[in-house]
Amino acid sequence: MSATIIDGKRVAKEITDALKSEVDALKAKGVTPGLAVVLVGENPASKKYVASKEKTCETLGIKSIGCKVPDTITQAELLKIIDDLNNDPAVHGILVQLPLPKQLSEKEVMHRISSLKDVDGFGPDSLGRLVLDEPGFLPCTPHGCIKLIEAYGVDCAGKHAVVVGRSVIVGKPVSLLLLRKNATVTICHSKTANLKDVCLSGDIVVAAVGKAEMVKGDWIKPGATVIDVGINVSADGKLVGDVEFEAAKERAGFITPVPGGVGPMTIAMLMYNTVEAAKNMLK
Ligand code: GUN
Repeated sequence: MSATIIDGKRVAKEITDALKSEVDALKAKGVTPGLAVVLVGENPASKKYVASKEKTCETLGIKSIGCKVPDTITQAELLKIIDDLNNDPAVHGILVQLPLPKQLSEKEVMHRISSLKDVDGFGPDSLGRLVLDEPGFLPCTPHGCIKLIEAYGVDCAGKHAVVVGRSVIVGKPVSLLLLRKNATVTICHSKTANLKDVCLSGDIVVAAVGKAEMVKGDWIKPGATVIDVGINVSADGKLVGDVEFEAAKERAGFITPVPGGVGPMTIAMLMYNTVEAAKNMLK
């Protein structure tokens, strides 16, 4: 039987629709949520992501503060921009679009963003809070994955969740969030032995490895929930995920498409974090 296709666009819209009234309520109290998006250089994918983030801000009435700088910027100049945004009361959230050009230290930049404005959830305070199960900004893509699982009523408790990929941005945080939901979690990576067999034992598979269609359809346990975080361009120029979608959907119970699955959720959760950051200012 063919899987239920998880409609990320629909779930993301439900989330942003609900946020719209929160933004209106904040504005009535004199606070307009503000998101600063820093884009370094001309990476076409980054430009596209930043444009979508700005468009969603506009739809919701969140003030988008664009900071576009050339890729010749020095580390000191970029840190000065972050410091200024940290000190600007009209800015509630700061996002520095990754990846940064090679001469810049992403780590130093992530550490510099105020923990009160870390709406990407990549800073040490946010990630530490995630490990400690304390309230804080959750990284947007992992949070979006969990929201999709919840929206389709998939119970994680006691299930085996297999996460393919161990990045700080997705693999590690989504594993911790699945653990929070009482799944038994296995994190796979490039050195994992028998990857196919490990995936086949997953009731939930999250693919976040960044390799086009690496997770094959016959690696999916019948009835499993498949969350595909990948956005890749295939050899024939098509946008594809990390999972071989057509074959996997014949075995899965639920599966996210690419595009239209996890992608729209990342932006929705960024908006959610920005509204939370603005609400925190009123506390
Ligand atoms: N580049 C790709 N995804 C992301 C993201 O979620 N946040 C940032 N800052 N950069 C990215």
